[in-house]
Amino acid sequence: MPTVTLSFADGDRAVFAARSGETILAAARRAGIALASDCEIGDCQTCRSTCLAGEIEYDELSSISLSPGEVEAGEILPCVAAAATDLEVHLPYERGKLIAAKPFSIKVERIDRLSSSVVGISARMLGLSALKFLPGQYVNLQVPGTSEWRSYSMANAPGEQRVLEFFVRLLDDGIMSRYLAERAAPGDVIQCRGPQGTFYLRSGERPVLMVAGGTGVAPMTSMLSQMIASKEYRPVALCFGVNRTDDLFLLDQLAKFRQVLPSFDFRIAVAEGTGKPDLHCGFVTDLIDAESAANSDVYLCGPPAMTERARTIVTEFGAPASSIFAEKFIATAGGAV
Ligand code: FES
Repeated sequence: MPTVTLSFADGDRAVFAARSGETILAAARRAGIALASDCEIGDCQTCRSTCLAGEIEYDELSSISLSPGEVEAGEILPCVAAAATDLEVHLPYERGKLIAAKPFSIKVERIDRLSSSVVGISARMLGLSALKFLPGQYVNLQVPGTSEWRSYSMANAPGEQRVLEFFVRLLDDGIMSRYLAERAAPGDVIQCRGPQGTFYLRSGERPVLMVAGGTGVAPMTSMLSQMIASKEYRPVALCFGVNRTDDLFLLDQLAKFRQVLPSFDFRIAVAEGTGKPDLHCGFVTDLIDAESAANSDVYLCGPPAMTERARTIVTEFGAPASSIFAEKFIATAGGAV
């Protein structure tokens, strides 16, 4: 049986044997080792890790959501990858920070139209215990009246009086969008499961560069709120991009962050032109500057093309892979949106 050696970002290690054809995730579980996972079918990339040595194999029926470049760079999805030889795998999160996902319910308190394409939901957790999560993580929400689940990052900091806030991008054929347009109301109860994801604010004193597309700004606002709540101030630059001017939202909130955080700046890009001098006309990735990229912990969240382009740019500017953290929106079941 191949031996799998795991190394976590906090230096913890684990070693176990994998049976033939058994996924790395299943083999770890059998050995009593918890790993980050969500969809467990190769879609969401929550389990995404790096193979440092050895060969893996995928079942031919598995759908692999990694890009060819990511596969070439050694990225793997342990929920669907099996060990073909002895393996060394690096997991990009701290083992000691893993929080087990659990089912819980929330009651909707407010539904606010934030822009032409974004709705904000504020909801209160039901039950006795508040959800523990790390700023940047997401939860899965069951769309009321359906059996469908969608993933949304929390936009507020953990511990805020049992309240969870989400930004939902409205899609023409989106099932959550239809719920919000046709029947959502304060008082609705939504079933949830979480927290999920390994995209969370790492501690430390290094400056932070955030690059967000659309509602990908939600985990960034959670991280910024957490910095304020914990008074752990670090220099932060946020590059925030939308498609059109009427997609813009959150500008007042970002201005408030700038008043409170000692060193916070944000830059806005609008892809389809603005006519406003303080907004960049173009892609959010145009706003990334070399010095910030090279000297910061970099957080990327948004559509796959944006996050992959941003990763390429910050890497070319000298950011090491170990300082880049990314969450892709994947518009089907799974990825945080
Ligand atoms: S848990 Fe592996 S891709 Fe979703």
